Amino acid sequence: MGFFSSSTKEVPPVQEVPQHVAVIMDGNGRWAKKRFLPRVAGHQRGLESVRAMVKACVRLQINYLTLFAFSSENWRRPQEEVTFLMSLFLEALDREVKKLHDANVILKLIGDRSAFNAALQQKMIEAEAKTAANTGLVLTIAVNYGGRWDVVNAMNQLMQARPDLKQIEECDLLPYLSMPYAPEPDLFIRTGGETRISNFLLWQLAYTELYFTPTLWPDFDDDAFEAALSSYRQRERRFGRTSEQLVDGSDA
Ligand code: IPE
Ligand code: IPE
Ligand code: MG
Repeated sequence: MGFFSSSTKEVPPVQEVPQHVAVIMDGNGRWAKKRFLPRVAGHQRGLESVRAMVKACVRLQINYLTLFAFSSENWRRPQEEVTFLMSLFLEALDREVKKLHDANVILKLIGDRSAFNAALQQKMIEAEAKTAANTGLVLTIAVNYGGRWDVVNAMNQLMQARPDLKQIEECDLLPYLSMPYAPEPDLFIRTGGETRISNFLLWQLAYTELYFTPTLWPDFDDDAFEAALSSYRQRERRFGRTSEQLVDGSDA
């Protein structure tokens, strides 16, 4: 997989169907609460929406899907819930990777792995290795991910690799950010009704179209996804240019 250019340096290609969709899967706890179930039942149910979304992306030929599963701030939750989320993640890795592999999906995991125990880190490496040679959908799961961590981590790696640099350019940093293998997201979806980024992909969302829906993640089905895609199709992606420039293609 080659490198993609930056939306702030070059106007990226735009298609009817987004190439890369990034999702904050929010509202699991509220979904459970509405049903008088423990919050964790919502997370369990949320996994079904993940499966459906992966299938939908394969069907619609969306090439990259990035899902926010656990933020660097989610450690602040009650210990019980954190432990449950970790075991759900481990279980999902065990159970789903084979299916993903059979579906030709490339699995990538982004975030600070140093917080996870050795067994989990090993599973993460194995899951990525198993699917690395596939050629289908690139599914990225963000775990213990934070947008600020991503930028600072990239800076640290760059400083280590190039101590000679006195000043850096955007393009120096790009290979060290979390997703150099993917174009910047075309469409961002947040379920659950909050209209914030919550420290998700801060750098990469520079020109992404944002879509917020009150639908809770466990209820986010194919129709809900189609509504997001339909909203996306109506957007005019100007990347700083005027509307007129887009119509006459004079930017070309
Ligand atoms: C999102 O659902 C899942 C994670 C953050 C792991 P929440 O657990 O945040 O659900 P709400 O927002 O409390 O409803
Ligand atoms: C964002 O949801 C993180 C994930 C979905 C993994 P949160 O529920 O943690 O976000 P806040 O706390 O409402 O901003
Ligand atoms: Mg939430």
